[in-house]
Amino acid sequence: MAKLTILRYPDPRLHTRARPVDSVDARIRQLISDMAETMYAAPGIGLAATQVDEHIQLLVIDISETQDQLHVFINPQILAAQGNAEREEGCLSVPGIYDKVTRAERVTVRALDENGAAFELTAEGLLAVCIQHEMDHLQGKVFVQYLSPLKQSRIKNKLKKRLQETM
Ligand code: NI
Repeated sequence: MAKLTILRYPDPRLHTRARPVDSVDARIRQLISDMAETMYAAPGIGLAATQVDEHIQLLVIDISETQDQLHVFINPQILAAQGNAEREEGCLSVPGIYDKVTRAERVTVRALDENGAAFELTAEGLLAVCIQHEMDHLQGKVFVQYLSPLKQSRIKNKLKKRLQETM
């Protein structure tokens, strides 16, 4: 088990498009375990492989307060999306920044689990938001890209300044 380093926006590697996982093997299962540990320690409710500089289509999500309901999504695809809902989002790659994003209210996703078995899940509320947010990471998209250009540049400056202060 190892805690992984989370890339911070505006790191250009966050804009890499992830490739599909072709076999769910021991290496992938180790990565899932390390990603879950990293997410829980942060603490966060979702983490995409992109955020730990592994550019494959893999997400871990756990929105439970007890941190014992891990969802693993490998090669996720949205089969259906309904409605619209606005919710405040944050991201482990954009620490301390929260803002409202509008997304589908309910999504049906197909993916593989940690054993390589296919499943379908219909989610709404926070879980639906989290799935869409994490799937964006796999496309190289960070949630701040939904905000106005002015807000994006303010966030970039803030995070760059904070990075310099810690060096
Ligand atoms: Ni994120």
